[in-house]
Amino acid sequence: IPVEPFDLVLFGATGDLARRKILPALFHRFQIGQFSDKCRIIGSSRSALTAEAFRAQTADAIRDFGQDVETTPAEIAGFTDLLDYVAVDARSDSGWDVIHGKLRDDAVRAFYLSVGPSLFTDIARRLSETGIATPDSRIVLEKPFGHDLASAQSLNTALRAHFEERQIYRIDHYLGKETVQNLMALRFANSLFEPLWNSSHIDHVQITVAESIGVEGRGDYYDKSGAMRDMVQNHLMQLLCLTAMEPPAQFTPNAVRDEKVKVIEALRPVPQSSIARGQYRGRNAGKSSDSYRDHAGNPASRTESYIALKVEVANWRWAGIPFYLRTGKCLRDRVSEIAVYFRDPPHNIFAGSGTVHGNVLVIRLQPDEGITLKTTIKDPGPGGMRLTGANLDMTFADELPESGRPQDAYERLIMDVIRGNQTLFMRGDEVEAAWNWADPIIAGWEDAGEAPQPYDSGSTGPDDSLLLIHRDGRRWRSIGT
Ligand code: BG6
Repeated sequence: IPVEPFDLVLFGATGDLARRKILPALFHRFQIGQFSDKCRIIGSSRSALTAEAFRAQTADAIRDFGQDVETTPAEIAGFTDLLDYVAVDARSDSGWDVIHGKLRDDAVRAFYLSVGPSLFTDIARRLSETGIATPDSRIVLEKPFGHDLASAQSLNTALRAHFEERQIYRIDHYLGKETVQNLMALRFANSLFEPLWNSSHIDHVQITVAESIGVEGRGDYYDKSGAMRDMVQNHLMQLLCLTAMEPPAQFTPNAVRDEKVKVIEALRPVPQSSIARGQYRGRNAGKSSDSYRDHAGNPASRTESYIALKVEVANWRWAGIPFYLRTGKCLRDRVSEIAVYFRDPPHNIFAGSGTVHGNVLVIRLQPDEGITLKTTIKDPGPGGMRLTGANLDMTFADELPESGRPQDAYERLIMDVIRGNQTLFMRGDEVEAAWNWADPIIAGWEDAGEAPQPYDSGSTGPDDSLLLIHRDGRRWRSIGT
């Protein structure tokens, strides 16, 4: 269904995220017919570009970063026809009246700030003071949303001086991933799982976001953040919330976000003994020059490129059930998944016939989005009653081939901005609650001056992360083979 006509102003239009993700995502939605010819995208940045040059750059970006879909030159030209460009400097007055003059009164207005967080407040203020932003306009902000609770609070306060919460769209692109949304469908549109979704039937949960790439090229930003701020406070927190939250009464933005905030507020403080931090040292036991410290350009860096934590949601449903979270760079493989481990049956009537393989429900975000349920069955064949493990396996692409190519998270999220649906965006109090939980954890290792443990690039992470789970008599699921 086509969306309403819109004017989308994209600040940071010549930046990396715009070229790799935002513009190709917009193009794909144009290509499938979701835009009317009244939709317009106005690129903006400090560079003095002509609209023609911006169109040409965007056409290149689509060819370089568009997904593997057949694209005709006519489609690209049709899309770039919708583009315009205005140079502005967030910190000066020039250019804003030009943007203002291009916006129409009868189109949805959205301002996408794909810029560094230090510019958020300046741009928001100018949009409001110049009258460019109307009470119905939307403002979209990329991460990082704050560096800690205090900075997130002051950012929220500054934004709310110019925009109301219902106008603010804070992006966590994990919420746009197909499987993440599917987690809600799986839990709340099926009657099978929810009765078992609690501490009586679940033994523990593992949430893994493993990446095989390092921080090449982003060392400057990353070295001030580390895995906790870059991934856990936002992406893994969102996965944890959607796994642990109570069923909202409706699938509406505030009902869903209210439930997520309750999960974050129920998180117990995490002692340092429940944390393992690591830093990749390159291959060959650190003899090559592809260590984290090389990539970060900081030979003494104590920033973690890996973190594992044991977390507890202290509420009626989850008391005593560990959620093990881990994420890291330069690991053996790229795997993101949520694995829910169910308790073993209370009594094994098959003693002597093999092992009962506990049920594990694995929700795969990437690669091969899908769901697997590990079960125990009788080994088929003449050998008598012998038990074996077998998977009930569903890969979305095989199961539903007609649903076409996988959607990039940004496609869904940008269209939701235009539709005015905030369900998949973080509310201000949610971000603050997540920092409120993360801050003392980070302060804990900073105060102790603790360095992360080195691990080999291409491995499964530091030894301490194995200990963290082994001492509870459990094991991590494997990362790749
Ligand atoms: C970003 C982080 O938010 O998410 C990156 O800043 C990380 O460090 C990326 O690589 C992971 O996203 P995805 O979609 O590739 O899993």
